[in-house]
Amino acid sequence: MSHTVDLLVLGAGIAGCSAALRAADLGASVVLVAKDELGGTNTSWAQGGIIGLAPPEAGDSPALLAADIEGAGAGLCRREAVQVLAEEGPKLCRSFLWERLGVPFDLGENGTPDPTAEAAHSARRIYHAKDATGLAIQTALSAAVRQHPNIQVRERLCLVDLITSPHHCLSPVRVYDPIRVHGAFLFDPATGEVEGALARRTLLATGGLGYLYLHTTNPPSATGDGLAAAYRASARIVNCEYVQFHPTALYSPGKPRTLLTEALRGEGAWLVNRKGERFMAKYEPEHMELAPRDVVSRAIFQEMAASGEANVYLDLAPLAARLDLDAHFPTVMAACQAEGLDPHRQRIPVVPAAHYFCGGVLVDLEGRTSLSGLFAAGEVACTGLHGANRLASTSLLEGLLWGFRGAEAAVRDLGGEDHPDPGDLAQWRMPKAPEPTDPLLIEQDWGLIRSTLWNYAGIVRTGDRLTRAKADLHYLAHRIERFYHEASLSRELLELRSGILCARLILNAALQNPESRGCHYRVD
Ligand code: SIN
Repeated sequence: MSHTVDLLVLGAGIAGCSAALRAADLGASVVLVAKDELGGTNTSWAQGGIIGLAPPEAGDSPALLAADIEGAGAGLCRREAVQVLAEEGPKLCRSFLWERLGVPFDLGENGTPDPTAEAAHSARRIYHAKDATGLAIQTALSAAVRQHPNIQVRERLCLVDLITSPHHCLSPVRVYDPIRVHGAFLFDPATGEVEGALARRTLLATGGLGYLYLHTTNPPSATGDGLAAAYRASARIVNCEYVQFHPTALYSPGKPRTLLTEALRGEGAWLVNRKGERFMAKYEPEHMELAPRDVVSRAIFQEMAASGEANVYLDLAPLAARLDLDAHFPTVMAACQAEGLDPHRQRIPVVPAAHYFCGGVLVDLEGRTSLSGLFAAGEVACTGLHGANRLASTSLLEGLLWGFRGAEAAVRDLGGEDHPDPGDLAQWRMPKAPEPTDPLLIEQDWGLIRSTLWNYAGIVRTGDRLTRAKADLHYLAHRIERFYHEASLSRELLELRSGILCARLILNAALQNPESRGCHYRVD
């Protein structure tokens, strides 16, 4: 077991890095754990942007932002979370990311960030760094955490489980204690060892689970590790049926999907079918391409089902007439060019893809989970902000704000509690004669999980499909759990174990909720 630090932050995207920096600024000793190299996060993949402040003349206000968030959230948003974010978030974005860290947002003529538009936002309020905003933010955050004297960065470590009392306590009388988190077991793929990282407070910021779906805009590391560990430690988890699909991922048969940012439609791109018809007029004539994501994704799904086509198209011509595409959207243009497509002359084939998990570990306004000692922020957490469907460009802001708030609450809570002596905690025990892990089995199991969720728990769901999926994955879950207990640990096996558990959480929640709302849509 390691010596006990004040705060262990698991995950190094915007939520984790912000939490680490805030706690470290407040004087806490912090260990920040990254699953990959620092910077290799889902945050880095975010193209569109982060909600900032619209210029005063734009008539924007926290009340207008709150109304947009609640409109997208389909009646399920937690009002206090929306208000806190609408009041505090944009100011923090500006003061912390732009003024303090110097994130290179695109600037207007007056030298301040020049916000862009995105779907379902009623003002131009999105700060962006071309179409690689997440990467610009992550780069600045990674540099800041590396430099901070109170932060120790630990890279390429995988979360195995949270360390909890009484579960990991040697003394049987601890069974009467409330459940408390004391850090985490971490696996180092380079050595094959598991270490116990002890902390007075632990903050989960491990991100989402898009990789559970066959088609996703997320990186392969988005396997729900933190959600699964929190569930095993018996934290309260909510809203798992609400998986958001991004309407426009670049379609190239047999290749992973690449996000084509919402900002394209925000700036005027059209969705058309093979005949060139702007089909959103049939589904949402008022807002057309600027309707909330769940509405647009379903419209695309229905259009594809009706026509039998494998994709629809994004037409950038209306926007190319006004904007220099190469200057504004270099990431999108490079992705298209890599597929031999020229958006100046051709429509881009697109399909929806799993993008964001709106459910998660339930937290309060200060990032506290239902387990003492455990905080959560970012996509792994459910603050209630997104309700049943997330408004574009709220996720980076939520990660930033709850990272800050969680860190402040964690530091405030330090001291005074009964913390077990490291000697009273059980060490990690590897199986005596572990079997080698067969990569083919892992790949096959992932294939089954990903295609099952995509086909049966995707954009349009029915009770029959969900029941079938639940039965199929129930059997697989037993096999994976046995595999986990008998085989040598590997990152791939840990991720598979997380993936199957999260898949079952999604299926159970989707089956139990017969009501279509936001991104949970049941046709039965
Ligand atoms: C995008 O650029 O469309 C993604 C932004 C988001 O998911 O909020």
